[in-house]
Amino acid sequence: LAAVAPVRDLEGRRILISAGGTREPLDPVRFIGNRSSGKQGVALALAAATRGAEVVLVAANLEVDAPAHVSVVPVSTTLELEAAMSVAAPDADTVIMAAAVADYRPESVAESKIKKETQGDRLTLSLVKNPDILRGLVDARRPGQVVIGFAAETEPDDEKLLAVGRAKVARKGCDYLVLNRVGWTEGFAAERNTVLILDSAGDIVGEATGPKRAVADRVLDLLADRP
Ligand code: CTP
Ligand code: CA
Repeated sequence: LAAVAPVRDLEGRRILISAGGTREPLDPVRFIGNRSSGKQGVALALAAATRGAEVVLVAANLEVDAPAHVSVVPVSTTLELEAAMSVAAPDADTVIMAAAVADYRPESVAESKIKKETQGDRLTLSLVKNPDILRGLVDARRPGQVVIGFAAETEPDDEKLLAVGRAKVARKGCDYLVLNRVGWTEGFAAERNTVLILDSAGDIVGEATGPKRAVADRVLDLLADRP
């Protein structure tokens, strides 16, 4: 398991990766967001570039620096992420949706700061569902293009976690789903990750535990193994 000189087994591949977490504004100073740091997506981008791929990283509010030698498209909201992905996807051999996408956004964004004085003791937010970007990318997929999704689940039971992953890969229609468990302390901001990789049939085709870089390399191995 010693570090070796990088194998350039992804030379010539064009890989589009989303990373981070989208934020949905409520007013000019507030947003609804999630705890994704972007570390796993950035690790994927770095690993792919190191292995010789041409990488485009669509970066949603990263808490870590984007790697060098990667073309970065900064976005913030889900609709911005969707637009950036749909522009870049036609040029990619592989699309990896590692970003944590806000499932809902405020129905309206206040022009000025929401004030307690006008709201009183209770504030009710009305949220509308965001588009499913991964589903859209799968529907627009060109022949031979590989689409990979991520699923972060809080299900504590292993069997049930796998069942949730299988149902999700079937629903999304992606080629692979990288399944990991998250919670208050696992997953998001952590340096390490434990994942199961499912194929479109729901079969386990990879497993990884370790630093996010090692997890990234296991995911990319799936691509290197394909013609
Ligand atoms: N995803 C997406 N667009 C959304 C929501 C999710 O592209 N609006 C992508 C994520 O980037 C990830 C995959 O779909 O690659 C699975 O995300 P997840 O949140 O687990 O799935 P959901 O369909 O949103 O289901 P859930 O209700 O479990 O959150
Ligand atoms: Ca979701």
